[in-house]
Amino acid sequence: MAKAALFFCVMMIAFSLSNVCEAATEIGVYQLRRGDFSVNITNYGATVISVVVPDRNGKLDDIVLGFGSVDGYKNDTTYFGALVGRVANRISGAQFTLNGVVYKLPDNDNGNTLHGGKIGFSDVVWTVQEHIENSHITLTYNSHDGEQGFPGEVSVMVTYLFVGSNKLAIKMEAKPLNKPTPINLASHTYWNLGGHANGNILSHKIQLLASKITPVDDKLIPTGAISSVKGTPYDFLQHREIGSRLDELAGGYDINYVLDREGAGRHLTKAAVVLDEGSGRKMELWTNQIGVQFYTSNMLGDTVGKNGVVYRRYSGLCLETQGYPDSVNQPNFPSQIVNVGESYLHVMVYRFTAS
Ligand SMILES: *[C@@H]1O[C@H](CO)[C@@H](O)[C@H](O)[C@H]1NC(C)=O
Ligand SMILES: *[C@@H]1O[C@H](CO)[C@@H](O)[C@H](O)[C@H]1NC(C)=O
Repeated sequence: MAKAALFFCVMMIAFSLSNVCEAATEIGVYQLRRGDFSVNITNYGATVISVVVPDRNGKLDDIVLGFGSVDGYKNDTTYFGALVGRVANRISGAQFTLNGVVYKLPDNDNGNTLHGGKIGFSDVVWTVQEHIENSHITLTYNSHDGEQGFPGEVSVMVTYLFVGSNKLAIKMEAKPLNKPTPINLASHTYWNLGGHANGNILSHKIQLLASKITPVDDKLIPTGAISSVKGTPYDFLQHREIGSRLDELAGGYDINYVLDREGAGRHLTKAAVVLDEGSGRKMELWTNQIGVQFYTSNMLGDTVGKNGVVYRRYSGLCLETQGYPDSVNQPNFPSQIVNVGESYLHVMVYRFTAS
């Protein structure tokens, strides 16, 4: 059924008849493929299920953690591959005040709200607007007024798009329809450039183009400070193995980096470069966002994923570009409030090479 509808959709586009193809809302898996490079997406949570790219010898591996079936993503607390929102990351005290009104949100993380609440954008079924296998998929979601406690209706659109032969772009757009509201979307993919079944990422080398972080308390809520990485284990301005200073931390990296860029805006800057010397795979990440949460899957308990592979702590790394955490309650941080008539735009571009 879904396949036939999609084929019809593609045919309509091919013949340029218009965009009248019926939007699909059944849960399905949609593949993007260009040569050796392929990406699977499900409209459950607008989730990235797999990213397959060659290593230095042309061997293909799936380099993202995930589950063997779409059902695995339901009731899931890892956020593997998910598109998280309406507000990614933590909101302290599970509430915020906007224009004098207190908005109470679900507490799903030690008294705080994490990744949009109990049923965030990662746990809803998105509508597939357009899917062209060798090019892109566009998914939309309409978040209602009061959803997970947030004010106003928001129309959200995400496009996963191939650029050239080795780049994947993610374009996230959102528009509040009737009230101002905070918006902070993030893509929560867990990467292991050696392949999702290839153990941990501690020997990957990473460079983070960020001289500052927003330090957090023991519940991972920002203290409000913005501090230099200089002389700390957070300094990845030069390529360094992820595991090389791990013993100086309480348990891996889970922190927002303030990217070295000239403020917010549409222009893209390089946020990170990740290299796995075993496979020769390298991933560069560019974004228009001001922050990136670097998370080394510290909280990943033994989780059975694709092909029965058991993922553990440090099996993957996340680079969640976004605004700073808890911005709604942090007067120091750039605002994430989007007004009616304005639109939110978040772009990420990944470039994969191997040598
Ligand atoms: C991606 O999806 C296609 C179509 O459903 C499937 O044949 C393929 O095995 C999937 N690839 C991966 C790596 O999961
Ligand atoms: C998700 O949780 C609900 C309620 O606990 C349960 O009925 C359902 O079977 C679960 N789904 C999966 C895929 O585990």
